Amino acid sequence: PFEYSLRPQRLPEYIGQEKVKARLEIALKAALGRREVLDHVLLYGPPGLGKTTLAHVLANEMNSACKVIQAPALEKKGDLAAILTNLDDGEFLFIDEIHRLAAPIEEMLYSAMEDRKLDILIGQGPSAQTLKVDLRPFTLVGATTRAGLISKPLHDRFGMVHRLDYYTREELTVIATRSSQVLGVELAPEGAGSIARRSRGTPRIVNRLLRRCRDYAEVKGDGVITSDLADACLALHEVDDLGLEGLDRAYLEALCVKFRGGPVGVRTLAAALGESDGGALEDLVEPYLMQIGFLDRTQQGRKATEAAYGYLGLKTVPNSLFS
Ligand code: ADE
Repeated sequence: PFEYSLRPQRLPEYIGQEKVKARLEIALKAALGRREVLDHVLLYGPPGLGKTTLAHVLANEMNSACKVIQAPALEKKGDLAAILTNLDDGEFLFIDEIHRLAAPIEEMLYSAMEDRKLDILIGQGPSAQTLKVDLRPFTLVGATTRAGLISKPLHDRFGMVHRLDYYTREELTVIATRSSQVLGVELAPEGAGSIARRSRGTPRIVNRLLRRCRDYAEVKGDGVITSDLADACLALHEVDDLGLEGLDRAYLEALCVKFRGGPVGVRTLAAALGESDGGALEDLVEPYLMQIGFLDRTQQGRKATEAAYGYLGLKTVPNSLFS
């Protein structure tokens, strides 16, 4: 068994995010021309838009490898010191969810990023000594879904900060088509459009829905993903015309009906939906609902828009009628 990666390896294969690509292309060419490492890069934006993919693409373009670590996995300063001192010359380190770094580890990154130096404390008490270690040149790529949670000292040490945006329907169609070729499944152009339309602007969702449609085509069809087949498959999986799924709809129903359109706090909504905290809602559900104009985030809390009521087939009822 062998699975090809759906991730593009090189910048020209990376679809969309044209402004980000244009800026990175120049930085890459300049760094290669000077035989230097690429400046540290911070990528932010909703999950599934290709931050990890882009980090690997940048490393490939610099003819380097890329190590990947989730910020919460770095528990002790020694964890980060071990990784940094073991990087090869010019290697990339991708730290995902970088807003979740523990403070002492984040502080250690400052001198590593700025001066390629680590201060390592050896021993304890009065006999403790700090050891200064020089690091080999490296590029840090940080990724976060919450740019607002990055401290200013960390933010300021990135030479480039790029925001990834939701993809257009056309870009998602191209991604679906490209992925179908990698997977070796026949995807009709209208089938690609049908998947793209329901993918909430997100390549990760395109690829997930494409795999489900491939299964469906092999088991229920003749192996070809037509638009009718895609529609039937996505109906089975309860992905609706806007790409909203169970949790998205449950969120809107709770907000519009139970909380009468808000304003309501995200933690209250999370509790009503049986989610442990608001984090998953804030990362996975709310950004796209805001993008399509179903949700307002206000000082007082979350509020449903007219469009959200329209989507649910409900009339808006002024709050005052309930009191
Ligand atoms: N897979 C994930 N993101 C992608 C992108 N931007 N282009 C092509 N394939 C992708």
